[in-house]
Amino acid sequence: MTDLAKQINRRRTFAIISHPDAGKTTLTEKLLLYGGAIQSAGSVKGKASDHHATSDWMALEKQRGISITSSVMQFEYEDFCINILDTPGHQDFSEDTYRTLMAADSAVMVIDAAKGIEPQTRKLFRVCAMRHIPIFTFINKLDRESRDPFDLLDELEHEFNIGTYPMNWPIGCGQDFRGVYDREKREVLAFDQFHQGRNRISGIHCDITDTEKLDELIGERRRTELVEQVELVDVAGYEFDLERVRRGELSPVFFGSALTNFGVEPFLEAFLRMTTSPLPRRAGEETVDPFDPHFSAFVFKIQANMNKAHRDRIAFMRICSGEFERGVEYFHTQGGKAFRLSQPQQMMAQEREVIDRAYAGDIIGVFDPGIFSIGDTVCDVSLKGLRFDKIPTFAPEHFAMVEQTDSMKRKQFQKGMEQIAQEGAIQIFFEPGRGMERVIVGVVGVLQFEVLEYRLKDEYGVTFYRTNLPHQIIRRVRTDKDFDPTKLTLGSDTRLVQDYHGNYLLIFPGNWAIDWALDKNPGLELCEFDEM
Ligand code: G4P
Repeated sequence: MTDLAKQINRRRTFAIISHPDAGKTTLTEKLLLYGGAIQSAGSVKGKASDHHATSDWMALEKQRGISITSSVMQFEYEDFCINILDTPGHQDFSEDTYRTLMAADSAVMVIDAAKGIEPQTRKLFRVCAMRHIPIFTFINKLDRESRDPFDLLDELEHEFNIGTYPMNWPIGCGQDFRGVYDREKREVLAFDQFHQGRNRISGIHCDITDTEKLDELIGERRRTELVEQVELVDVAGYEFDLERVRRGELSPVFFGSALTNFGVEPFLEAFLRMTTSPLPRRAGEETVDPFDPHFSAFVFKIQANMNKAHRDRIAFMRICSGEFERGVEYFHTQGGKAFRLSQPQQMMAQEREVIDRAYAGDIIGVFDPGIFSIGDTVCDVSLKGLRFDKIPTFAPEHFAMVEQTDSMKRKQFQKGMEQIAQEGAIQIFFEPGRGMERVIVGVVGVLQFEVLEYRLKDEYGVTFYRTNLPHQIIRRVRTDKDFDPTKLTLGSDTRLVQDYHGNYLLIFPGNWAIDWALDKNPGLELCEFDEM
């Protein structure tokens, strides 16, 4: 194997997804601890405490103690080079969260054992399923009262329509939590309060048939229960099939407790064994092989003003093939030009480090003078013309009317709105015949409104009035030359808007309003937001 192939082969790039509070930050922190990337627990914490998440950089995040922008963390573990894509852990969503998943080769879904699937997990899962990437499940907080493990698996299977394969099986929960049974090794890993926070725990080897030893370890009642449950899982559960795992059809499930550091290392090891090195990517008719030595990447996130002192704008790229080298000229497909990417950086969350080289699977941030858009392709000059498939746009679900307060600052308002819209954090719509001083903003998660308000004020010095609208659904209007959308008969609760390109869209407060509009306007054809 060449050096390049070795580098690519050892890379694992994944996203951790969860509903807020399920334990994503805690698990990430423990993984980083194993890699020696951080020295002490608490440095990734994104909570309102003294230490802030390494991935928090916006002042707003600090104020609110939440992590809004997703970032990337790289660390080494054994021979692997691991890139964790952090997705925001708060209640609200932005397109950013979804797009981050476009840059991952697999996902780890953290679930609170007491709660099971929660709304955010559901949304994120849908994106993973759409991409058919492997999904690993970490059922967390077994040291607390938890739901029945069979119930939890059943819920996953039915709600997500995937198979599950428990890699281990919990022995009790809460006060009664005694550890897990490793199905592959057929041994018990006993939990002891004494293990709390310790980095490495060696399992107590105990064959499931060794009744005497098991009784000693976990007690007779729990042993009988365990044997019964394990038999049931063996007989009634899915068979392990690595190919199905890799196609995202079977999710390996791990039970554990991130806070007490229980089951995290076995999880990491099994995860690394089962996941693949960077996956190929589609670019129209072509499939780009990650091991192709020619560099190619796509932009999945743009973040402006990460560092106010520098007023910079960073484009994050996922490298899809080959090796990136600092100072080499690369081709930007959408811009039609070759140029040198300046200040290529890799992120260890907040710490940015200028790098000379990076490989397929890695994420790099480059200084963007305003030329990149989400989804753009950058590649070796010899691959000129390569164009990775578009990143899907997600339909906004919340809308507000935004009107600038100070007409003297029209330019700044316009610039700020455009900039933030270009980053993909918000979508801007116009009312036909109206100018830019009043626009309709659509977002995937309502917190984006606050982010918009904060950033416009902080970065562009402008304020605005915001009126939240009751609309929730957006549809594109199919038009041809004989169809004039401005002549539509619409209920008072439905609005006609236009996007930047002048396309017409309708926003509705509910499905019934869609039916009403279709009924009143024969010939009206609607399609989903990301179609056309
Ligand atoms: P998130 O990133 O998914 O939002 O969750 P986070 O890791 O911040 O965890 C949310 C809360 O759950 C934290 O408590 C955390 O300590 C706790 N937690 C995480 N994993 C476990 C676990 O395995 N067992 C138990 N018992 N608790 C767990 P908090 O009180 O909200 O924050 P803090 O005061 O501990 O910082």
